Amino acid sequence: MSSLDLRRLRQDEHVRALTREVHVQLDQLIQPLFVAEAIAAPQAVPGLTGVQQETSESLLRQVEQDLEAGVSKFLLFGVPQARSERQIDWSFTAGQVRSLKARFGRDIWLATDVCLCSSTPHGHCGVLAAEGDHLDNDASVAELVQAALAYSHAGADCVAPSDMMDGRVAAIRGALDGAGLARTVLMSYAVKFHSTLYGPFRVAADSAPKSGSMLKDRASYQLDPARPNDAWLCAERDAAQGADILIVKPGLPYLDLLRELSREIRKPWAVYHVSGEFAALEALAAMGLANRAALHREILIAFRRAGASMIITYGARYARDWLSA
Ligand code: PBG
Ligand code: ZN
Repeated sequence: MSSLDLRRLRQDEHVRALTREVHVQLDQLIQPLFVAEAIAAPQAVPGLTGVQQETSESLLRQVEQDLEAGVSKFLLFGVPQARSERQIDWSFTAGQVRSLKARFGRDIWLATDVCLCSSTPHGHCGVLAAEGDHLDNDASVAELVQAALAYSHAGADCVAPSDMMDGRVAAIRGALDGAGLARTVLMSYAVKFHSTLYGPFRVAADSAPKSGSMLKDRASYQLDPARPNDAWLCAERDAAQGADILIVKPGLPYLDLLRELSREIRKPWAVYHVSGEFAALEALAAMGLANRAALHREILIAFRRAGASMIITYGARYARDWLSA
């Protein structure tokens, strides 16, 4: 009498495939894109293999290439040359949205990140109050609303506020609906933690808080990793205010919350596998200590298992190979 029991269904690839519960599909992945006004040629982003700050021209070429790689959903970050505190000019990024949609139309789904950190002189995600030591919530929301309107008017399929100001979801939804832009999807970075894993992104978006500012970091607006209750409050609030899709960010360190929240709140959940997480995997593979495709596949599966409908990842453009390897 053999003790073989649970291993019976692991013995060959046929039976493993038949019993698999979780799948990752290419059409659930969203590829971030960076486009910068001040550069003359594309610039590689340290740590993020294959990711560049694009020029307006290279952006179109990159998206064409991504479509060939099976990627059709994008999250665009615009980095304008001019920076200002108020009455920010959103026309550079709006122009990129317009040209992407003019070229690719409905072949792509284009979400546009809505935040101030690539546009303010100090690199914070909102408007600095006169005292200089905190962000003015309502002044920030007023700027964010203008950005969302500009991107939506330009043809963005989705706007994604990542600033973490209070009330911005309701304000943006109300403004879009009032402007006849009711079809624009609102994807909220609802559960976004104050994380050390955003390093490569801040190079790509030129959005690190500048030293010398009285407000040193983003702890006064992003969530404290040691306070999961705040994640629930944010998720419930943003869902109630009309967010269509909710994001957990970063991914792996907050998988517990993705699991619990996605079971409880019946909106589609996205997870953002952020730049530092992605770079860490790439570094491990580059050291020869992990198989790159298998490593990324394992993490993508973890996100799906934990309840994510969609995954924002810098590796989307490689995923067809990774998922079939
Ligand atoms: C802020 C923003 C951040 C990311 C996207 N938008 C975080 C931050 O700079 O605090 C991080 C994304 C990543 O690391 O991949 N608006
Ligand atoms: Zn920001």
